[in-house]
Amino acid sequence: MRVLIVYGTTEGHTRDLAHFAAERLRATGHQATVEEAGPDERHPDPAAYDVAILMASLHVGRYQAALTHFAHARHEALNAMPSAFVSVSLSAAGVDPHDWEGVGQCDARFQQETAWTPKAIHHAAGAIRYSQYDFFKRLALKFIAAQRGQKTVTSRDYDLTDYEALARFVLEFAPPAKG
Ligand SMILES: Cc1cc2nc3c(=O)[nH]c(=O)nc-3n(C[C@H](O)[C@H](O)[C@H](O)COP(=O)(O)O)c2cc1C
Repeated sequence: MRVLIVYGTTEGHTRDLAHFAAERLRATGHQATVEEAGPDERHPDPAAYDVAILMASLHVGRYQAALTHFAHARHEALNAMPSAFVSVSLSAAGVDPHDWEGVGQCDARFQQETAWTPKAIHHAAGAIRYSQYDFFKRLALKFIAAQRGQKTVTSRDYDLTDYEALARFVLEFAPPAKG
């Protein structure tokens, strides 16, 4: 199958996850193309693929504008084909029902804004990249992480993603060819 993966990222973790997913898909015989959501003229056409997977991370309750724009611009094609969404966030690392409620609200707004209804959604825990944050972001993230039960130190980065769960999701959505 030809699989298109389009991602939005702010600090690069979702890019890494997109390439990880593509590698796993390629290992089972799929052709996987990875694109970062960008300006209109660069938008890939999902209709040229068998499956589309969009990925984005939450920042202050919103997914990246470029990815949201892409999903809206291509919602008709996406709605007409097998298309899935991978949401990356710190909320997905926690067990707090309020966090999950919050993510649900962000997802609902995203679907309303884009008019795209993914056939499946996977919530992946993201990363804390203190090495890339300025002073205020470091402080904010330490607080956000603590609220979600993650005791962190700012002298190192954290990768909270369950990579095997992500691989299972993409391979269930784009099953390996038989024979
Ligand atoms: C400034 C900032 C704001 C964030 N806001 C949220 C948020 O509202 N909800 C959440 O669950 N995670 C939030 N996160 C966590 C990110 O979703 C997580 O770090 C993710 O891995 C970032 O992915 P990226 O590197 O692809 O941008 C935030 C992170 C940063 C740095």
